[in-house]
Amino acid sequence: MATDLVAPGSVLDRARLDRATAHLDAPLAVVDLAAFDANAADLVRRAAGKPIRVASKSVRCRALLERVLAMDGFAGIMSFTLAESLWLARAGHRDILLAYPSADRAAFAELTADPKLAGAVTVLVDDPAQLDLIDAARGGTETVRVCLELDTSLHLLGGRLRVGARRSPLRTPEEVGALAELVQTRPGFRVVGLMAYEGHIAGVGDRLDGRPVRSRMVRLMQARARAELAARRAAVVHRLRQVAELEFVNGGGTGSVESTVAEAAVTEVAAGSGLYVPRLFDNYRSFRGRPAALFAQPVVRRPGVGVVTVLGGGYPASGPAGADRSPVPYLPAGLRYDPQEGAGEVQTPLLGAAADDLLVGDRVWFRHAKAGELCERFAELHLVDGDRVVETVPTYRGEGRTFL
Ligand SMILES: Cc1ncc(COP(=O)(O)O)c(C=O)c1O
Repeated sequence: MATDLVAPGSVLDRARLDRATAHLDAPLAVVDLAAFDANAADLVRRAAGKPIRVASKSVRCRALLERVLAMDGFAGIMSFTLAESLWLARAGHRDILLAYPSADRAAFAELTADPKLAGAVTVLVDDPAQLDLIDAARGGTETVRVCLELDTSLHLLGGRLRVGARRSPLRTPEEVGALAELVQTRPGFRVVGLMAYEGHIAGVGDRLDGRPVRSRMVRLMQARARAELAARRAAVVHRLRQVAELEFVNGGGTGSVESTVAEAAVTEVAAGSGLYVPRLFDNYRSFRGRPAALFAQPVVRRPGVGVVTVLGGGYPASGPAGADRSPVPYLPAGLRYDPQEGAGEVQTPLLGAAADDLLVGDRVWFRHAKAGELCERFAELHLVDGDRVVETVPTYRGEGRTFL
């Protein structure tokens, strides 16, 4: 198809997307299937034979989760809430790892009352208090499959400097081993896996445009973090295998696939953002994905020379508030925000010479800063193949499911 001949972000690419969606009114969101499939294939290549568990939070569309799960190299879902996990299990998914602790008592009541759900969903535990919460919520006696989480953060200067997300309190083989023993001896629970997500490696780009010093610092930090984590993760897995029969050891994310799978102790890698390739995933040396998820906003007025206004657009991503959390105007190239207004709640002025070629009713294509959060803004994704929309599928939101 012509898609592969067209450089992403080019004038031709814009014409193709405009043509494919000409019959639709913006705002609208699309996923370019050629880019999506190429990104999926690249993740599989990088995973070098270890299975990829698809991170649902970074996709938030069942049709696209199912599309990747049908590809060789992907197996299982990494979910983000318990209610979501049960919904996916009811829809027939059999291997769902809930990667964040839950306090949803109603959902735990359902999980523990239904052997089908309890067999399909693994919940995350890093504290005995979570076991108490689950037991207090029980609606039945089904055994709960438990995954323990390891703190992956890097401690420097004798622990005075900490790099990495604040997630699990469990850091050492002893701490993980002790909690595993507790779980194993507690009726109604069984340890089946370990998860350790090195977000400071997987989620932090090491090739920042125009920032060579910072990029170098990130690389140094990540090299150190990788070495420290590889040794500790191996020791933790060794200890855990003395206590439990592990079905999986999960690690990593889109930005760390190669280094995570290179550890013998790791059996699978998680990834999701690398499918849509949002703006924050442009800054990695290890891979270069193709922007696959885009949204279009209509030009609704022209305030003056060198400026157009589009409807909506203010869809910031989570994380520390800053300019890098805003969507970026993508096509036509050369548009930028008005620094006084940024991406607006209901309308967004865009500045630049390219504005003068845009008429009322034309559209501007944007990339979101992160992956799945885009789907909280749109009920549907139009799937584009070449210069045609071949299918329109609901997002989680479109199915009436806003889990967070
Ligand atoms: C536990 C866990 N694993 C993996 C990932 C990586 O997901 P992605 O590939 O979408 O960056 C995340 C993202 O935050 C995560 O929280």
